[in-house]
Amino acid sequence: MQSDNSTLDSYWMPFTANRDFKAAPRLVVAADGHYYRSEDGRQIYDAFSGLWTSGLGHCHPHIADAVRAQVAELDYAISFQVGHPKAFELAHRLADLAPDGIDHVFFCNSGSEAADTSLKLALAYHRAKGEASRTRLIGRERGYHGVNLGGISVGGIVPNRKAFSGALLPGVDHLPHTFDLGRNAFSRGLPKHGAHLADELERLCALHDPSNIAAVIVEPVAGSAGVLPPPEGYLQRLRDICTRHGILLIFDEVITGFGRVGAAFAAERFGVTPDIINVAKGLTNGVIPMGAVLVRAEIYDAIVQGPPHLIELFHGYTYSGHPVAAAAGLAALDVYEEDGSFAQARVLEPVFEEAIHSLADHPKVIDVRNIGLMGAVELSPGPDGPGARALEAHKLCFWEEDLMVRNGGETLQFSPFLNSKPEDIQRTFTSVRRALDRVQ
Ligand SMILES: Cc1ncc(COP(=O)(O)O)c(C=O)c1O
Repeated sequence: MQSDNSTLDSYWMPFTANRDFKAAPRLVVAADGHYYRSEDGRQIYDAFSGLWTSGLGHCHPHIADAVRAQVAELDYAISFQVGHPKAFELAHRLADLAPDGIDHVFFCNSGSEAADTSLKLALAYHRAKGEASRTRLIGRERGYHGVNLGGISVGGIVPNRKAFSGALLPGVDHLPHTFDLGRNAFSRGLPKHGAHLADELERLCALHDPSNIAAVIVEPVAGSAGVLPPPEGYLQRLRDICTRHGILLIFDEVITGFGRVGAAFAAERFGVTPDIINVAKGLTNGVIPMGAVLVRAEIYDAIVQGPPHLIELFHGYTYSGHPVAAAAGLAALDVYEEDGSFAQARVLEPVFEEAIHSLADHPKVIDVRNIGLMGAVELSPGPDGPGARALEAHKLCFWEEDLMVRNGGETLQFSPFLNSKPEDIQRTFTSVRRALDRVQ
């Protein structure tokens, strides 16, 4: 049944132009593998893997079976003072997958909760170590760490912060973003210029004194701001400065985790190990909401102290380690391992790179960026003002090309499945070119 517009009124959609959407709703009613089915019965190829979530494809049978079995066996288990085996097993598997030294896992339900949890863990860690003056947090311009108050405080996407500026955390600084169209346009993989931007952290250390700084949080590849791969050497410089000054380095790998950059984590791909890794999205292949914060042993050991009968950390969620999410997470990890998905993504990377850069000569394109299976095409602004051209391209792709493409600001963003067919990746950009030919 087609929805008539009056039934759409109550739902206040997230990060959506509600009135524009409800005037011509783009509804999907089913999904299978690499395709959605639209309400009007079309097969829509998903060039964004959900919302960076579903690298293995939609409705993966192994994950669906695991969820079905779990919900029938143990639908919920109280998460405070009682546990269930699958949460422990998933934590163990994640610790195994994580870089050496990162071996404890705190569960939450989303990337936003992972961001705020990681900031709280950083504060609790320094306090437990007797360095309670380390309270300042450092994020980065154009960073995205979800929408909770901690995350938007360290985040650097202006519209996400603007209406809430009165409630942002005090004591937060931002590193400069690394987007440099003048010198790095049309980079393939890591841009050459910009490692020096990490040195801004030294300036902040000189300004505040490191003894007042708790943590630096960055996405190894900024995703939501339009895929900004780190300049060559940049992450290592951040790591070195943090190590020198006893500052915790947090990688928000909510997008980059689980194969998106052709390795289990961006930390592995770039050979830079942070102190804390945040994940969500691909953790369950997007099937059940779940997030997690992975930490070094010394963080856990510093906080988990005191009389053994007392709670060590006053933090947690009703749904931390939810049994159905844990079952989905374990099943997703099985498939990643059995299919060799992270290596598969690495093999597809050059195919994706060639295909996305085929748009470089389009007159409405001013930049193309990619790393792993993440990419963005930056459009010149159209006559209808900021963001309109990319939204129009998204809609044209949906209605005319049977293609799901994400728009954000002036960018079109791409996140192909880890197990994409090369011809589907190539076809995606032929379709996008046709759409770009037609947009205002
Ligand atoms: C890097 C990063 N952190 C955090 C989040 C927030 O995740 P969620 O929407 O699950 O709260 C996102 C979502 O896109 C993200 O990309």
